[in-house]
Amino acid sequence: MSKKILLSGVKPTGRPHIGNYFGAMRQFVELLNSGAYECYFFLADYHALNLIQNAALMRQNSLDLAVDYLAIGLDPSKAVIYKQSDVSANTEAAWIFDTLVTVPYLERAHAFKDAESKGREVNVGTFNYPVLMAADILLYDADVVPVGQDQKQHIEYARDIAQKFNNAFGRTFKLPDALILENVAVVPGIDGQKMSKSYNNTIPLFATKAEIEKAVMSIVTDSSSDLPVNVYNIHKLFKSQVELEPIYETHKGKYKILKEMLIADIESFIAPLRERREKIAADVKNIHTVLAEGAERARAKADLKLAEAKRAIGVS
Ligand code: TYM
Repeated sequence: MSKKILLSGVKPTGRPHIGNYFGAMRQFVELLNSGAYECYFFLADYHALNLIQNAALMRQNSLDLAVDYLAIGLDPSKAVIYKQSDVSANTEAAWIFDTLVTVPYLERAHAFKDAESKGREVNVGTFNYPVLMAADILLYDADVVPVGQDQKQHIEYARDIAQKFNNAFGRTFKLPDALILENVAVVPGIDGQKMSKSYNNTIPLFATKAEIEKAVMSIVTDSSSDLPVNVYNIHKLFKSQVELEPIYETHKGKYKILKEMLIADIESFIAPLRERREKIAADVKNIHTVLAEGAERARAKADLKLAEAKRAIGVS
């Protein structure tokens, strides 16, 4: 029996943070190692182009994210690791899907509404974001897509688009399911809001000890309560509730001590990852080889599916 297909991606828009890791990337590694899935992990560089319009930075961020993927334990001999832009079929399929969705439908997307509500002039790439994302997923026949809560709506768009295509042209695309872990669906940042690069409230996944200290010391605490909720909620990622309860009870109201304990726990978690990352980053040639081989394998898969879709719509 063939394995289920698992696919996910991360935008190379800067250093990933522990929200990306616990919300999504850790699942990538665990699910890959479970052996239950045929896995595809990519760098969503065309999505990042909406934000990063600087060639040197785009190159650097992409290389860095590929290193991050390997450093967290994604093994290129077991998973296909590639850049979205290396697979032209993705953007071609996005065009086909563009013809199936309406403007009001895309106007309902959270990311678009957010950008618009901030009074920003939204570029067409941001507006079409969910359509390219549907192509990313559907061309690989993905069954499951591990992501954080903020991507749930995008997976629903992908399902809808698959259904619209299948209704119009006959069954071609599989309907994917989002895989969201409830307890880490929205990892909070140091201000208690969702951790996000754009909110400037992150703890980088490969942070140095000094960066960890600085971030933890700036966690916002509310002096009206004995329990520093924002500290606790981040601490929960690194220690179980059973371990944490007596610690927080003993040091009730002692925010500094609790923050120091959190720093020690984050550091002991991150230090080995950071060391592994340094070794992997030293071999740039290997990173390029991984991406080139991944691109070839991804193209082989996506091109076949695109050809099927092109036959279905009557252009081949
Ligand atoms: P991106 O790069 O914003 O985020 C990568 C992954 O991290 C998750 N995440 C979080 N999870 C929990 N708590 C948080 N605070 C948090 N912040 C981020 C995201 O949900 C995501 O899973 N659109 C995608 C990239 C993409 C993609 C795809 C993903 C493009 N095409 C196809 C899956 C399938 C994005 O911008 O992720």
